Amino acid sequence: MDQAIAQLKQWIAESDNVVFFGGAGVSTESGIPDFRSVDGLYHQKWKYPPEEILSATFFSRHPDEYYRFHREKLVIDGVKPNRAHLRLAKLEQEGKLRAVITQNIDGLHQAAGSKNVLELHGSILRAYCSRCRKPYSAELMNHGEGVPRCDCGGVIRPDIVLYEEPLDEDVMMRAIHYIRAADVLIIGGTSLNVYPAAGLIRYYRGEKLALVNLSETPYDSYANLVIHQKIGDVFSQI
Ligand code: OAD
Repeated sequence: MDQAIAQLKQWIAESDNVVFFGGAGVSTESGIPDFRSVDGLYHQKWKYPPEEILSATFFSRHPDEYYRFHREKLVIDGVKPNRAHLRLAKLEQEGKLRAVITQNIDGLHQAAGSKNVLELHGSILRAYCSRCRKPYSAELMNHGEGVPRCDCGGVIRPDIVLYEEPLDEDVMMRAIHYIRAADVLIIGGTSLNVYPAAGLIRYYRGEKLALVNLSETPYDSYANLVIHQKIGDVFSQI
């Protein structure tokens, strides 16, 4: 076994306060493209750049165009949790992992069995009316046609954080709490490019920070252990 993976395995074995913070790279092995890799969502051709489509202004001005993108690119049917999601859920069951903090909106950590999942960017498995806030099932939003509307006439929207919108304060505070108190912090499958989520790393105070990401990140020199390998390969060994 690779020495860095062996080190991470040992840290986990000795701890009951591991926290995981991840992003789109955690779900690529389930068949969901990430955002910034060469074959990621941001490199595919679309009439508008995805960052623009995924913004609050665009959603309110062009909900029809937003929903075309949402159903074609964000909703991927039949996806299943992969080795990384499953190992994280097991670590929680074993009493080692305290929380999964994710930027993903795909619900795959919960599908794997994780209970304490903090969704910084919300979830496409929940929907609500943008006018009266009445909750709706995600089915109509994810698989219906056209712009889904509430009884009140408002546009039904996904419970995700669009660009220009603030993150949920309560979720953010809880994420800070877990990271601050963590003994081992594992960061995986995220380019650490999007703030304020990426800034969470600075709340960690320990000396067991492991970064598991295929490509380099701006925080590589900040971590105590850097593993540039597929997260599923790494998590199946720890
Ligand atoms: P990115 O696409 O920016 O980064 C994903 C990272 O995962 C890349 O650095 C890849 O190298 C790495 N990666 C891909 N597959 C991997 C694998 N199998 N194992 C290990 N690493 C792998 O995605 P995020 O950092 O999650 O926000 O992006 C953050 C936010 O940007 C998203 O939540 C989304 C997006 O705009 C909103 O929509 C608000």
